[in-house]
Amino acid sequence: MRRECPFAPPAQYAELRADGPLTRVVLPDGGHAWLVLDHECARFLLADPRVSANRADPAFPGYAPGLPAKPGQGTGFLLWMDPPDHTRFRRMVTGEFTARRMQALRGRLEEITADCIAAMRAAGPPVDLVTGLSLPLPSLAICELLGVPYADRAVFQAHTSTLATDSTHEEKAQALGALRSYLGEIVAAKADGPSDDLLSRLAATYREAGIDDLDHLTGQAMFLLMAGHETTANMISLSVTALLDRPGQLAQLRSRPELVRSAVEELLRFFSITDPTTSRVALEDIELGGRTIRRGDGIIAANAAANHDERVFPGADVLDITRDARGHVAFGYGIHQCLGQNLARLELEIVLTTLFDALPGLRLAVPADRLPYKQEAHVFGIHEVPVTW
Ligand code: HEM
Repeated sequence: MRRECPFAPPAQYAELRADGPLTRVVLPDGGHAWLVLDHECARFLLADPRVSANRADPAFPGYAPGLPAKPGQGTGFLLWMDPPDHTRFRRMVTGEFTARRMQALRGRLEEITADCIAAMRAAGPPVDLVTGLSLPLPSLAICELLGVPYADRAVFQAHTSTLATDSTHEEKAQALGALRSYLGEIVAAKADGPSDDLLSRLAATYREAGIDDLDHLTGQAMFLLMAGHETTANMISLSVTALLDRPGQLAQLRSRPELVRSAVEELLRFFSITDPTTSRVALEDIELGGRTIRRGDGIIAANAAANHDERVFPGADVLDITRDARGHVAFGYGIHQCLGQNLARLELEIVLTTLFDALPGLRLAVPADRLPYKQEAHVFGIHEVPVTW
């Protein structure tokens, strides 16, 4: 289902919700799944141990080409694991992403942001916000954190973008394979000669736990690298665009900078960029919302639908940075809730507090409704945002 308006979830969500919180839908590959349309049911299912996140399960809903995936393609990906593996491997990395660890990165993230803005100023106006700031900030941040050379960004950005769009099964498999061999070499080098970075520490943790599986470790690294830049980049582009397109909201943020945290939560809720990815397969029969989800049924807990549930977020289709948007599921819910959410929040917060002061006359060089939105992607975003000042 397309977002006819880039600033609202697919219109069908509200229509379908009128028939109840769960509805059967036909998927692009001809299969069927339950589409979950309200906030309460989405949270219930995402926290339910009777569902599986294994995207290599043949019953996993094919909300995008290339899904379900082939066994082995997602080896080491946290998001594809179920307990007890998920519990074990997530525990190895949670300490790396605590709010405190992220706050320690604040200075460096501010520096990267300032450098990007200085380069934008030197190059323009006009410039493209995506290549000037949205993509470099989270890419450089996750590279430094993991210990992956930023100079190689063209390689991993292109493959990640292929995976986040409706590319074919073959294109996705090729991108996954290429990323796995690229990162496999880096991870192997870190396992041999560790340095002070997350991947070296993770390699040591695998060794201490007696896990001699370089492919698995490479998968962990791949998922962190992919999840760490594409999503946040899209959120930066969409957030800046939405605020420039709504001068009232921007003026409020600029006159009351203390609103920045609630603005970030509201923007995450409003856009819910990873809408269909919070999907699962039922491992047992589940009674919910007057329906029976049968064992083996696919479930799509569409997070844009849940985050636009009027009973939880009144006036949900309006962006209101003063709203208390906590409780949104833009980072998912339950055991797979986004590991990098503190990093993403901090990056967004820094952009929204510095960009508009650094370039006070900033405005869109192309009207918001004419920008090239990622309609073909299952992680929503914008390809290019020309700005001027
Ligand atoms: C605004 C940016 C981001 C958004 C909207 C986002 C969204 C999400 C969502 C919805 C999930 C859960 C998916 C599900 O339950 O099926 C998730 C999981 C995950 N995210 Fe993020 N994410 C963002 C940024 C990041 C960053 C910066 C990282 C850095 C490493 C990251 C790493 C992960 C990981 C590792 C998981 C899997 C966790 C698990 O399975 O236990 N994400 N993310």
